[in-house]
Amino acid sequence: MEKHATDSPSSLQQTPSYHIRTFGCQMNVHDSERMAGILAEAGYRSTDDPEAASLIIVNTCTVRDKADQKALSDLGRLRLLKKGEGEKILAVTGCMAEREQERLHRIMPEIDLVAGPAQVRNLLPMIDRLRAEKRFQLGRDFDLPEMTTPPAIRPPGVTALVTVQEGCDKSCSYCVVPRTRGPERSRPIASIVSEVRGLVSQGYREVTLLGQNVNGYGKGAPEGEGFADLLLALDRVEGLLRIRFTTSHPSDLDLPTIGAMARSSKVMPHLHLPVQSGSDRMLRLMERGYTLEEYREKIRHLRAAIPDVALTTDLIVGFCEESEEDFQRTLEAVREFRFDGAFCFIYSPRPGTPAYGREGLPDRSVSLDRFRRLDDLLTGMVLEKNRGRIGATEEILVERTDEASRTFSGRSPHFRTVRGRLSDPGPLPSPGETARVAVESCTKAGLAGVRI
Ligand code: SAH
Ligand code: SF4
Ligand code: F3S
Repeated sequence: MEKHATDSPSSLQQTPSYHIRTFGCQMNVHDSERMAGILAEAGYRSTDDPEAASLIIVNTCTVRDKADQKALSDLGRLRLLKKGEGEKILAVTGCMAEREQERLHRIMPEIDLVAGPAQVRNLLPMIDRLRAEKRFQLGRDFDLPEMTTPPAIRPPGVTALVTVQEGCDKSCSYCVVPRTRGPERSRPIASIVSEVRGLVSQGYREVTLLGQNVNGYGKGAPEGEGFADLLLALDRVEGLLRIRFTTSHPSDLDLPTIGAMARSSKVMPHLHLPVQSGSDRMLRLMERGYTLEEYREKIRHLRAAIPDVALTTDLIVGFCEESEEDFQRTLEAVREFRFDGAFCFIYSPRPGTPAYGREGLPDRSVSLDRFRRLDDLLTGMVLEKNRGRIGATEEILVERTDEASRTFSGRSPHFRTVRGRLSDPGPLPSPGETARVAVESCTKAGLAGVRI
């Protein structure tokens, strides 16, 4: 019988191992899952211990300065692990890798390999070249749209991330993403459907479709298939219970997509639609490509088709030239649209973006104050909305259970976190099942109640 590499302790020591650390958005999380798939197929095993790993990958984000600082301080610690050990590889991938390129190796010579987000599939050839040439490797190329094999290694669970679209053709003046993720590319529907079928057969029950501009899916595709077609195709996948997607751009939210959301039983009634600001002057300076009235019009259509839809958003405060009056427009917009949640950010100037170096940046203390006021308003609103659910019934997809406390948790269709307990001594629902919970209490973070 053939002997396997893991049979003897001595060969076990030679099995290469990897340790991946991930920063940034879900797209990066999924890129790490893909890299794990590639490495596992090549015989690497995963380790939680960077010291023991023969390959350390830091998958970085660069959307705001804070993201850069986090990755750099992590790398500053990890580089020390390389001392005296020639074989260990320290690799930097993701959006900061794409933006900084060889500069990373110049400031930290321990970094052996730098590869942008589109280089995931080139990881192994780059490692081979590094071993052969014994010199720093740099990879960048956006012309690599489709990758499904080897399969990504996802954490076992109920919900899976699936990248359907990558890159961004917009040019918001504050944003680095078009430079780090390149132009928009979409995967063919058939390939996505086949991946999702595979996920369902492994036990996943929900997918979150990912794209920088996910509802721009298929733009310019010769087949003319758009995001609505993708949603409807996935709606027919047997055994799949729920479909979510992020992030959508207001300009690309079209009536067919709204119609598909309304018609499909699996697409959840939740849309994350970043508005960024409530001031038309700011939207123009941000080069977002819509006015507040145009955003409002989209929401009108959306709420006409799906009256109870949950709406979440992203907001930036302290952008160049933002006055108190502009900021007031943002507060008004938040009150008007009654968002179910929002990610708020203080503008972070990014080198290489159109807005970089523009005059009129509010004082840091002013931006911080606006951030707090906005956050207070949103927190109050979310709490009020959650209180409004007390007495209602939520159907959740169970993600976790806890025997000790006899509770289970998951998300409602509207993406609220719900914790349920049992009123009887029966068995807990299993992850992947749906359960109905009568809501009894809430915090700003979610709802709690009893199974019915
Ligand atoms: N493609 C998505 C999100 C990209 S980044 C979209 O257009 O909505 C996620 C969020 O980060 C953005 O929506 C924006 O609110 C925020 N963001 C991007 N660049 C930023 C910057 N330079 N400073 C502060 N926030 C930023
Ligand atoms: Fe950045 Fe704008 Fe593209 Fe979103 S749409 S990724 S904010 S440039
Ligand atoms: Fe960050 Fe890149 Fe995502 S900059 S937010 S990891 S697309």
